[in-house]
Order: sequence, then C-alpha cells, then structure tokens
Amino acid sequence: MSLENKVAIVTGAARGIGFAVAKRFVMDGAKVVICDVDDDAGESAADDLKTLGEATYIHANVAERLDVRNLVAETLNAYGEIDILVNNAGIVSGADFLDFEEDEFDRVLSVNLKGVFLCSQAVARHMVETVENGGAPGCIINMSSINAVLAIPTQLAYCVSKGGVSQLTKTAALSLAKHGIRVNAIGPGSIMTDMLSSVNDDPEAKQRLLSRTPMLRVGDPAEIAGVAAFLASEDASYVTGQTIIADGGRMPLNYTVEVPDEE
Ligand SMILES: NC(=O)c1ccc[n+]([C@@H]2O[C@H](COP(=O)([O-])OP(=O)(O)OC[C@H]3O[C@@H](n4cnc5c(N)ncnc54)[C@H](O)[C@@H]3O)[C@@H](O)[C@H]2O)c1
Repeated sequence: MSLENKVAIVTGAARGIGFAVAKRFVMDGAKVVICDVDDDAGESAADDLKTLGEATYIHANVAERLDVRNLVAETLNAYGEIDILVNNAGIVSGADFLDFEEDEFDRVLSVNLKGVFLCSQAVARHMVETVENGGAPGCIINMSSINAVLAIPTQLAYCVSKGGVSQLTKTAALSLAKHGIRVNAIGPGSIMTDMLSSVNDDPEAKQRLLSRTPMLRVGDPAEIAGVAAFLASEDASYVTGQTIIADGGRMPLNYTVEVPDEE
C-alpha cells in the first residue's frame, strides 16, 4: 500500500471531498487524523474510517491558531509524526459583488485562506524539524478550486480565497523545497458534495453547469481523492508548487457543450 505507515491530517473531513480523501488514505495504509468543526459528523466519519483502518477525529477550527496548535500536538501525541497534511476545509458565501458584506468576506477568507496558512506553517515547522533530525520529508496538499482562476460574480470571497491558495501553494513550495518537503494543490471542478447540493436540486442550474463540462457529468469525491493519493505518494516525488486541475475538461473549454436531454 502506497501510504503504509504514513501519518496524515485531513482538515474538514467529516464529509464530502475531505472524507473521500481520508478514506482513500486509510485504504492506502495511512493513519489518518480528521478534523472538523462539526463534531457529530466528524466522530461518525471517524467511526466509518475505523472499520477500514486507523483513524481519529479531533475537533479543530482551522481559522483558530490555538485549535491548529492543538491539532498538531494531539496528532504528534497519538502517532509521533506527521507525513501528510491535506488542507481541505472550505466554505462558500453567496452574494453579488455590490452587496457582499465585510463580515462574510472575513469569515470566508479566515477559513479558506488563513486556515491553510495556519495549518501549513504549523505542520511544516514540524516537518522541517523531522528532516533536520534525519527523518523523511513530508508533503502538503491544498484543496484549491478552478475558481482560483475562473470567477463567479456571486462568490467574491470564495474566488479570492482560492486565488490566494494558489499563491500560498507556490510560496510554501519554494520555501520548503530545500528540505525536500513538497507542497501542491488540487483544483476540483464541480464535485458532488453538500457544497454543490443547491445546483444539483435545480435542473436549470445543473443544465448550465453541465453545458460547461465537456465530460457531461459532475465529479465524484473519490476522483479528487485519487489525485490526492498520487500527490501524497512517492510517484509524485519530483512534483511541487503545482495545482492539478480535475474538472472534467472545464478549464480548456472556451464555449459551451450541448447537453443531451435527461431520459
Ligand atoms: N464540491 C465542489 O464542487 C468543490 C469544487 C472545488 C473545490 N472544492 C473545495 O473542496 C473542499 C471541500 O469541499 P466539499 O465540497 O467537500 O465541502 P463540504 O461542505 O461538503 O465539506 C466541507 C467540510 O469542511 C468543514 N469545515 C468548514 N469550516 C471549517 C473550519 N473552519 N475548520 C474545520 N472544518 C471546517 C465542514 O464542517 C465540512 O465538514 C473545499 O475547500 C472546497 O472549496 C469543492
């Protein structure tokens, strides 16, 4: 198994893409700590993962420095090391640009961008220390989005935050390269999770979405987990500072595709 004996932290992993990544890592042999702010869902997700392998739930709001410090300390206490960090926790907040509230701007940026910074810095400090003591270098994977590049007029803070994640990925990758620590990101397109449920329940919105998706379907969280498993593995040993896009072909598309009527 490609992640045998590795210790991973996956943030925001009570559900959705984070849970799929945690599940894939456990199946690949890793010991996985999942964190979230939804404790009931987090505990229940950890119970599911424990049927497959080694997993623990720890409450942590990634936007809170003390929560992050506690997450790192508790993980080290339980497993003695951290080889992989997946910064997955993220939120959306919709309003037109002209109406977007300052508080909402701060709330989204604090989770989606500051949270990635806080977790990455705390874990990277530990990883550098490990390398200096002769241990193996780890890696960090950030859940970005195609919205790091493409914009939605009603998702100001989200798009800004993901653009920031792209630059944070490159900056951290350059800083940590000399230690052998790799930092990459994944840019999912439309993936079937709670975050996308409003689109899924609205046939017109779904039609619009598919008309911009050459593969004519939304992605499955497991398809993003597969990219994370690659980036975390030795197969990606010379890959750093990159964002791998997994979007069913949306980014290369400069028009729309015809969507067949549903049966
Ligand atoms: N679903 C998509 O189509 C899609 C597309 C591109 C990028 N993404 C990104 O993938 C990541 C996961 O998205 P998802 O669709 O699985 O979302 P989701 O809403 O299904 O799950 C997000 C999880 O993060 C947790 N969370 C929220 N705030 C947190 C905080 N402050 N600290 C810790 N945990 C917190 C939530 O409780 C939830 O369990 C996000 O970063 C999102 O921006 C999703």
